[in-house]
Amino acid sequence: MSVKEDRILSPTSKSEDAKELFLRPSKLVEMIGQNRVRENLFILIEAARERRESLDHVLFYGPQGLGKTTLAHILANEMDANIKITSGPAIERAGDLAAIVTNLQQGDLLFIDEIHRLGRAVEEILYPAMEDFALDLTIGKGPSARSIRLQLPHFTVVGATTRLALVTSPLRARFGATYRLDFYDHESMETIVRRAALILAVETDDGGITEIACRARGTPRVAIRLLRRVRDFAQVRANGKISRKIASDALALMEIDELGLDDADRMVLNSIIKKFSGGPVGLQTIAASISEEPDTVMDVVEPYLLQLGFIERTSQGRVATSLAYKHLGYDPPPPAQARFPDI
Ligand SMILES: Nc1ncnc2c1ncn2[C@@H]1O[C@H](COP(=O)(O)OP(=O)(O)OP(=O)(O)O)[C@@H](O)[C@H]1O
Ligand SMILES: [Mg+2]
Repeated sequence: MSVKEDRILSPTSKSEDAKELFLRPSKLVEMIGQNRVRENLFILIEAARERRESLDHVLFYGPQGLGKTTLAHILANEMDANIKITSGPAIERAGDLAAIVTNLQQGDLLFIDEIHRLGRAVEEILYPAMEDFALDLTIGKGPSARSIRLQLPHFTVVGATTRLALVTSPLRARFGATYRLDFYDHESMETIVRRAALILAVETDDGGITEIACRARGTPRVAIRLLRRVRDFAQVRANGKISRKIASDALALMEIDELGLDDADRMVLNSIIKKFSGGPVGLQTIAASISEEPDTVMDVVEPYLLQLGFIERTSQGRVATSLAYKHLGYDPPPPAQARFPDI
């Protein structure tokens, strides 16, 4: 099984999630949680509107499924602007980007997902386009080649990435505002599940909502997916209503525990604890020990385990914490001093 695609708890977008596009909040006031980011965006939007200017370039980063793409759409909506959607890997050559930006109109929003995956040559076209709204083109070849500068309409780049560290610093510097999205707190998760249940016309009670919210890893995309799976269970095994008992039985059947950990998470933790005596162990080694890609472990499994405080990143690799030992039912680990005599 591939952790990335098949896993029900995967924060990675799947084709079935596309059906839920209508669940996306379309206005900033409808957006639940992420209060700090929201407050900042309100000000950014209001200020741009008052000055009748296009929005400053905005970069969103954070784990998958927390609302980066949703926020890009919200920004376009709030600014009454057209949105053009593309992604780092989709823009292969500098010419591709030139074609996109020359087709933009004043105030348009260009959403570049996975912006850390832009090629170098493409990035170099993007710098003046973002900074001076200019496109530098080279005409001809050899000694007769000359460079011309084309003026572009004022547009807004909204970038999204799960890996801020891989966004080059010149590119980062061109964004007027950069916001980190965090995992949602429990209260926000409950509100998100309640709202989705209402839109999907699923009958639930408070217990059912709490149960799903607790196990959705602070991630709206996961919450919505779990809600749909639990709805199936309630329909087939009961009268369609999601109570606490139904939700808990459905999630137990999916082998999702009370903290929202599934097989893939337990495999990673077990590997660190049993095969590598609790760590430190490199991410590549962990990934190899469970036959997964390092990128998948890093994007899909690790963020939530870090958030729970079950693993820690050290300069020598990942370490399982005593919380992880306890959760999996192991005796507490030996004190750090005994494990890492050099510390
Ligand atoms: N604050 C929110 N309130 C309600 N629903 C939300 C919220 N944030 C995200 N969602 C829902 O969660 C889903 C995932 O959000 P989105 O696609 O924006 O995540 P993302 O950060 O772009 O993920 P990725 O990194 O995989 O691209 C969407 O379908 C959206 O409906
Ligand atoms: Mg996205």
